[in-house]
Amino acid sequence: MQDIKFYSGENIPLELHKVRIVQKLNLVPIERRLEALYEGGFNTFRLSTMDVFLDMLTDSGTNAMSDNQLAAMMQADDAYAGSQSFVRLQKAVEDVLGKKLLLPVHQGRAAENIISLAYVKKGSLVPMNYHFTTAMAHITQNGGKIAELLYDEAYKINSDHPFKGNMNIEKLEEVIKHHGANNIPFIRMEASTNLIGGQPFSVQNLRDVRAMADKYGIRLVLDASLLGENAYMVLKREAEFKDSTMGEILKIMTGMADLVYFSARKLSSSRGGGMCTDNMTIYKELEALVPLYEGFLTYGGISIREIEAMAVGLYETLDESMICQSPSFIKYLVEALDAKGIPVIKPAGVLGAHVDAMQVCAHIPQTEYPAGALAAALFLISGVRGMERGSISNQRDEYGNETYADMELLRLAVPRRVFTLSQIKYVEDRLNWLYDNRLLIGGLRFVYEPPVLRFFMGGLEPTTDWPQKLMAKFKEDFGESL
Ligand code: F0G
Repeated sequence: MQDIKFYSGENIPLELHKVRIVQKLNLVPIERRLEALYEGGFNTFRLSTMDVFLDMLTDSGTNAMSDNQLAAMMQADDAYAGSQSFVRLQKAVEDVLGKKLLLPVHQGRAAENIISLAYVKKGSLVPMNYHFTTAMAHITQNGGKIAELLYDEAYKINSDHPFKGNMNIEKLEEVIKHHGANNIPFIRMEASTNLIGGQPFSVQNLRDVRAMADKYGIRLVLDASLLGENAYMVLKREAEFKDSTMGEILKIMTGMADLVYFSARKLSSSRGGGMCTDNMTIYKELEALVPLYEGFLTYGGISIREIEAMAVGLYETLDESMICQSPSFIKYLVEALDAKGIPVIKPAGVLGAHVDAMQVCAHIPQTEYPAGALAAALFLISGVRGMERGSISNQRDEYGNETYADMELLRLAVPRRVFTLSQIKYVEDRLNWLYDNRLLIGGLRFVYEPPVLRFFMGGLEPTTDWPQKLMAKFKEDFGESL
């Protein structure tokens, strides 16, 4: 697809779709937003959408669906077993991901549960480019450990490396030699490494990982939840593939994995999830667990309507004019913030823009959760809901000690085709104001900490009355504006 240039020379993303169904948003006064923060324990997961203006929490289950997806949902063949909708999904998985054997699950972490139950035991080690919260939780719940093997460049906020999600091949071999291939049930590669800023890996890197997996006889598992955007980045950034199609790149990548799993809430702009493989042994090892935890093998806990939407959504990932939308809006936002000196992960990745709270809130120690505080502060002054991706999202170690995250990020997700450019400009504007007033932001502390995945329902409170002071400054500068 050609880039679309503006006569003015402006570099702005152009929407390649039209809006035909809309949902009214609420922009409530700042006083209400402050109350909402106290009610929700300063945790953006616990806010009600009644109080949220732009919901940039996640792209999971919130990408805009297409007219064709919605239409497909009407032809759902509701049947407990043997549904034709599942046959259509199998075909879509084979056509797009190139795998013949499909096991449906209700969402991505359900696949992680089943894969971990099947393969991880005490003493297991799972090397990965980087962890995702739920993937790690399932591995550790089953007695395993993880090894994160990125190159140093991945941890640099300000970088121009096109593939910061690449796995460090030298370290991978060291880890395998040190722990022994027998203790490594699989290597996990996560497409568009979520927690370090939606950063892709290259096809060449995946080839190198595959070679190592072959050398030591270890399974390679691909988390394909953000594979569409990763493939788009390969198309744009890896010279060898500049003339390839999305379909070719996707199949090259999935073709290298023994097992592919995904959250359809992301990959196919629907809900649901799946695991697919061409390896009958792997299929059989996982098959029995699906009816036990998810549902019968032709629906896996997913509504049949969503199975139809998934099938169509998978084909739509092949369409560059669709898949480019989220990354091009993210790039616009990242470049706009960067131009104002706001520290943000570069290069722009996929999923969202990631603001570096460690720098923005350099005055807040990591023990007081700078990324959580920044997320709360942005919500307070704008109604924009982002997500903390820092130490609150980390889990305690096996001895119960706090572990601090490598990065303290405020993630502003840009789901596919949801926001308009003026909304993105509003985010940029409010973040600029917040950056200029950043010293007014203070820390947070836990008042309620759940034992597993604490970031979802955890409750925190501000360490001082900084939210009131920030609100007062907002009112001074913006007057009666919302
Ligand atoms: N893998 C990756 C890379 C993910 O980003 C997610 C979810 C999962 C697995 C789990 O899938 O939610 O369907 O169970 N990421 C969401 C997010 C929650 O907001 O980034 P799930």
